[in-house]
Amino acid sequence: MCGIIGIVGQSPVTERLIDSLRRLEYRGYDSAGVAVVEAGKLDRRRAPGKIRALEDLLREQPLPGKTGIGHTRWATHGAPSERNAHPQIAGKVAVVHNGIIENFAALKRELIADGRTFTSDTDTEVIAHLIDRGIAEGLEPLAALKAALDRLAGAYAIGVVIEGHDHLVLGARRGSPLVVGYGEGEMFIGSDALAVGPFTSRIAYLDEGDYVAIDHDKALIFDAEGRPADRPVRTVPASAALVEKGNYRHFMEKEIHDQPDSCRNTLSAYLDPIAGKAHAPGGFDFTAIDRIQIVACGTASYAGQIGRYLFERLAGLPVDVEIASEFRYRDPAVAKGTLAVAVSQSGETADTLAALRWCKDKGLTTAAIVNAHQSTMAREADVMWPTHAGPEIGVASTKAFTAQVSVLTALAVAAAAQRGRIDAAQEAALVAHLLEAPRLLAESLHVEDAIHAIAPEIAKARDVLYLGRGPMYPLALEGALKLKEISYIHAEGYAAGELKHGPIALVDEQTPVIVIAPTDDFFEKTVSNMSEVIARGGRVILITDAQGAAHAPEGARVITAPTCDPVIAPLVMAASIQLLAYHVAVIKGADVDQPRNLAKSVTVE
Ligand code: AGP
Repeated sequence: MCGIIGIVGQSPVTERLIDSLRRLEYRGYDSAGVAVVEAGKLDRRRAPGKIRALEDLLREQPLPGKTGIGHTRWATHGAPSERNAHPQIAGKVAVVHNGIIENFAALKRELIADGRTFTSDTDTEVIAHLIDRGIAEGLEPLAALKAALDRLAGAYAIGVVIEGHDHLVLGARRGSPLVVGYGEGEMFIGSDALAVGPFTSRIAYLDEGDYVAIDHDKALIFDAEGRPADRPVRTVPASAALVEKGNYRHFMEKEIHDQPDSCRNTLSAYLDPIAGKAHAPGGFDFTAIDRIQIVACGTASYAGQIGRYLFERLAGLPVDVEIASEFRYRDPAVAKGTLAVAVSQSGETADTLAALRWCKDKGLTTAAIVNAHQSTMAREADVMWPTHAGPEIGVASTKAFTAQVSVLTALAVAAAAQRGRIDAAQEAALVAHLLEAPRLLAESLHVEDAIHAIAPEIAKARDVLYLGRGPMYPLALEGALKLKEISYIHAEGYAAGELKHGPIALVDEQTPVIVIAPTDDFFEKTVSNMSEVIARGGRVILITDAQGAAHAPEGARVITAPTCDPVIAPLVMAASIQLLAYHVAVIKGADVDQPRNLAKSVTVE
């Protein structure tokens, strides 16, 4: 999604705007731009493509100015191009925007009828015209902003500068996040803590509907009804170290290798190693609910599916998992005793947030498993269950996924104990297995050489099948998504038992079949699936443990992950599918951290 930065500074801002936009690259984008106001004049520079194109342009045509806004654009309306890049300008007003204005066509028609000329295909340009028209009609900047916001339907986070106002940046949010940064004699707005992290760690999070005016030393914040609002200023360490690659080539590679730590950090909030008990931070009574409804998108939904196996098997709690974009429009029949759980790395995904709000409106208790602890979902859910994966910069989710699975596994154990399904000794045994997960996750990374050897063959494939049974089925779905989204090779995840119901027709020498099968209750059945594939000339790559390797069917290539208890197998087997996707993408020369067309946080429908 788009990234936004605004600065009212004491020194030239262009370089700092660019520095912040670099920290927002992880959100995915296809063009970038900045605008500054100086000596009463408004000016801008924009460039399609990566930020370095904008930097080259600024070297040729510098932009002096101590107040400005910047933007990385992920195209929603209008192709990626200079004319559609932000900032969008109308008259004296420049706007940067993250979100979708759903009624922009009607507003555009109204403004054209008013004699206004448009220069882009974007929805954002109508915001600039509305504010400019308000100022032309004599409104002060804040009043003109509010009048414009009252006309908008849809989601936005915006930054605004206005010609003739050299020490003012306006901002507003509804449906897309925006923060205010408090510096020393300088003030900032940004899409998230990382955007303003290089300049300050003192941050206030705007609430839904808030709008703000910042100058050198203060922020005037108003709520959706136009009343002065006071938002707490927190210290949020977004140190540079958190967003550097270290010795790795890509953020994704670093984040795959960070997983022992991110898993340990996450589990530490849910396990008591001395007492051998699992708990929800702050406590939660799982005996007070009858079922769980998980809503999520993409990788987070696969983590939710793994959670279902664990909650049902361990705690006897019925669980439904549904992708949020389907759930929210299906008008589902939800029962009162249902706990709605949103799973989301960013805590801002539009469909998941809308599904969570739908559940809240139906009177359900809501929980959010989020990595961004100040995100909208974190603040709107009744209960926030944090993952502690740290900032995940690579668009393809890895450490956030295993952190989500860690949380769901620990909560399933806590629920099982509370509901009397396991006794203290069984709980302690499960907690002990969970405590081993970070070490075994570290060991699982040792498969990297074997993965590296197999990757060239996969890189040549046109289609790849991933198979798994039980909790390995959602892991097969995740493996297929990883490969698709960073190497652009078509891949499908299937329940191994489904092979004979259709997908086996795809099996030939050209289609690698990746089978994820530790030696659990399903292993024997999965061996026969693999034999069926091999018998038809298919190429099987089995990801398993030592015992599974010893019983692999003739002809299968084997990746041996550490042996572990089934309750943590999804965590221990995950690295293999992540590393496979990563190395295939590197071989194909793909943009691993910012794959084409993708965004880190999909804050539009
Ligand atoms: C994962 O690799 C993808 N980038 C995508 O499926 C992602 O998991 C999905 O968009 C959900 O994002 P969230 O966890 O921030 O809600």
